[in-house]
Amino acid sequence: MVTPSGIDGSEGRALWARADRVLPGGGIYLSRSARFAGEGVLPGFIADARGCRVTDADGRSYLDFVCANGPNLLGYGHPGVEQAFLAQASKPASTNFFSPVLIELAEALVDRYDGFDWGVVAKTGSEVVTLACRVARQETGRSLILAFESAYHGSDAELAPGLPSPGPADGRVLRVPWNDAAALERASNEQEGEIAGILLNALDQTPLRPTRFAAPEFVAAIEAVRRRSDAVLILDDVRQGFRMHPEGSHRALGFQPDLLCLGKGLANGHSVSALLGHDGLREGARGIVFTSSLHFEQPPMRASLATLKAYDEEGAFQAMTRAGRRLEAGLRKAAEETGHVIDYSGPPTMPSLLFENDPGHTRLVTFAREAARRGAIFHPVLNWFLSAAHDDAAIDESLEIARAALEATPSLSTPPPEPPPS
Ligand SMILES: Cc1ncc(COP(=O)(O)O)c(C=O)c1O
Repeated sequence: MVTPSGIDGSEGRALWARADRVLPGGGIYLSRSARFAGEGVLPGFIADARGCRVTDADGRSYLDFVCANGPNLLGYGHPGVEQAFLAQASKPASTNFFSPVLIELAEALVDRYDGFDWGVVAKTGSEVVTLACRVARQETGRSLILAFESAYHGSDAELAPGLPSPGPADGRVLRVPWNDAAALERASNEQEGEIAGILLNALDQTPLRPTRFAAPEFVAAIEAVRRRSDAVLILDDVRQGFRMHPEGSHRALGFQPDLLCLGKGLANGHSVSALLGHDGLREGARGIVFTSSLHFEQPPMRASLATLKAYDEEGAFQAMTRAGRRLEAGLRKAAEETGHVIDYSGPPTMPSLLFENDPGHTRLVTFAREAARRGAIFHPVLNWFLSAAHDDAAIDESLEIARAALEATPSLSTPPPEPPPS
């Protein structure tokens, strides 16, 4: 039963009261706070998770299309990954110097991704994207990073402008519009001799906007600017990695980056990220100090090796693509039959949903709230994620819930609902 204050039950509400006392609140945790989706729309606290389902603090189970915002690649609690983690966790997590597993993981990554010769293992996507920019600057002796409007690249203050509470920007990151080859050319002409790197995601996945793939002429312009300015091309594959192409999203785009940033799904929810580079940038990387006491924790690295193995052996990419196609077909049909006009975009593994004629996104938020009440989490602000654990039965159950939620959402023939109380 949904309470007047939202979806959380008594345990969830008690946790919010405690959270509001000891956390700073606001946007500090961005989308990792359920409030990012609107007050009381999604359950605030997740106590457990298995496969493609999560359980909230009050013991309610939900089919989940958030997937921890990407890390849940193979299914929560994947047995092979957890066994590998636990076997290593019986030994001390962090000790002196390098561990053999660090080298094993760097080798596995360099072998897996064509065109890369070295890797740096860290914990978060934010760290490795920032490191990539440092390598580009160190290598070129220039400071400017060309990036794209609204693209999220982690919480580093320099890369974060445009977020709800922008950090200080020192002007060394210049953002140009996505898919605008002419604007990119113009920016590169104006900044001639200044550009250290071009930083991009494989897709434009701006919250509350349709997902946009990179147009071929835009990819060609990126290549041309890279060649002309001798800039380092950095693909931030933290979000899209493993969900656009098993060998890196650049394989879907048709270019070879100089630096590849990985994270999120790389250890199926354990804390591992990585930066890969080629021999031409080894000197640049050598010139940088990038270290942290807990980067060398071994159990997450074992989890990462097991994730890579299971991803390949279990055909995870194919499984999540199939699940995503089934979801899309079912949702389109349900929307049509319930009188909704929707905009469903993005790759099958990471779709985005918007409703037509939805000022303030009130239909979208209503849909998400109604789906959550019935046991499925479809994030109303961010793109969704599929995992290899979303099997046909889970998708069909989710579609039943989505249909009921669509029926409970005012359709085009009715005016948009009032915005929810904040
Ligand atoms: C494209 C992209 N880059 C970098 C990051 C930052 O990764 P992390 O949250 O692991 O620091 C994110 C996180 O959402 C992301 O989507």
